[in-house]
This record gives sequence, C-alpha cells and structure tokens, in this order.
Amino acid sequence: MAVKIVAGFLVVLLAVSTPAFANDPDMLQDVCVADSTSGVKVNGFACKAAANITGEDFFFAGIAKPGMTNNTMGSLVTGANVEKIPGLNTLGVSMGRIDFAPGGLNPPHTHPRATEMIFVLYGELDVGFITTSNKLISKHLNVGETFVFPRGLIHFQQNNGKKPAAVVTAFNSQLPGTQSVAATLFTSTPPVPDHVLTTAFQVGSKQVQKIRDRLAPKK
Ligand SMILES: *[C@@H]1O[C@H](CO)[C@@H](O)[C@H](O)[C@H]1NC(C)=O
Ligand SMILES: *[C@@H]1O[C@H](CO)[C@@H](O)[C@H](O)[C@H]1NC(C)=O
Repeated sequence: MAVKIVAGFLVVLLAVSTPAFANDPDMLQDVCVADSTSGVKVNGFACKAAANITGEDFFFAGIAKPGMTNNTMGSLVTGANVEKIPGLNTLGVSMGRIDFAPGGLNPPHTHPRATEMIFVLYGELDVGFITTSNKLISKHLNVGETFVFPRGLIHFQQNNGKKPAAVVTAFNSQLPGTQSVAATLFTSTPPVPDHVLTTAFQVGSKQVQKIRDRLAPKK
C-alpha cells in the first residue's frame, strides 16, 4: 500500500516537475567556470580548476561602449554570454547589448534556448514578436522602458527614430543561441536547396539567388 502511494506520488511529481526543464539546468556547485582549453564535451563546458579561478572569469567590459552599426542591417548585437564570461557556465543567465543606427534593424530571429528582456538605454524602438498563432505582438519603446520576447518566438527590433538607439538584453540561458530567419534560410552551408525556398516563398529561383547574393555577398 505504502509502496503504491509512493509510486503514485513519484509519477505526479515527475509530471508536475517536467516543465521546470524548459530552461538551462540547475547548477550542482557554486561555480563551474568554463575551461575553454578542455576537450571534454558536456552539456555546457567543463569546469576550470578552482585554484585558477579569478575575478576576470566573471567580468566583461565589452558592452560598456556602443557597437559599430555601419553594416547592412544598421545594428550590432554584442553578447555577454558564456563565450565572453566563462564564469556564467551552469548559471543559466546572460546579457547583451544591441546598438542601432537611425533606421537600423535587428532582423527577425529566434533564441531557441531563452526568453529575452530588453531595457532601452537610449533612443526609441519599434519591437515585436509573432506567436505560433501568427499574431504580431508589437510595441513602441522609449528610453528606460522594457519589453519581453518569449522563448523561441520570432522577434525583431527596429530604430525608426532619427538618432542612434541602444538596449541592454537579458536572457535565462548562459548561451541563448540565435537563428536569424533570413540568414538561416539563405546563407547556410551547404545551401538550402532552391526548390525548398522557391516553394516556401512562392518566388522564382532568380529571386532566391538575388537574396542570397545580397545577404552573403561574394568577396
Ligand atoms: C592553473 O593554471 C596553470 C597555468 O595555466 C596550469 O599550469 C595549472 O595546471 C592550472 N592548475 C590546475 C589545478 O589545473
Ligand atoms: C565601420 O567603421 C569602422 C570604423 O570607422 C571601420 O573600421 C569598419 O571597417 C567599418 N565597417 C564596415 C562594414 O564598413
């Protein structure tokens, strides 16, 4: 009888706790500073020896200044994730900064492993995400305001103002990952077959080639 109750309780516990795995796993120790020299492959990175950990492992000055926005999209994303801050390994959070020239766009993309929040440092932005029911949820943001992009949903930010804009970003993953929709489909290696794109977008192969050439100009 007692065994049955315990078994039933475990089943309920497992069922209830499953959604808790929808983000980075919990850490099992205080710190696990990523050891970039290790060849060991684990979910995340192997830990550096505790004796070799310093404040530098938890520090990054790379989002202190505006990023260069003189590119095709007029925006630049600078991650402050585990690749820049090894001390973030196993901690389940990261940040970043996005700079926008006037008219600049952070083109539609998703983060497969994290929900994102942004805080407008300066300037103004038009932002939005699209739900799986194909509804656009959008908002105009001013300095000091925040907005949320739920995990996995395609989203974008555009500076329709006349001055530069910048945001600080926050993620519930040490490495949220980014798939930019246009670049993913049109600049992958090897390329996505033409007929996949001509059918999906209902255009001809010349148009597909034109987009490829513009997104990844041959050097
Ligand atoms: C700490 O770093 C030094 C220099 O990189 C290395 O020689 C040493 O083996 C490291 N200590 C441990 C315990 O891994
Ligand atoms: C952007 O500007 C910087 C500094 O002015 C320059 O070094 C860099 O090559 C430029 N990048 C592009 C893509 O034009």
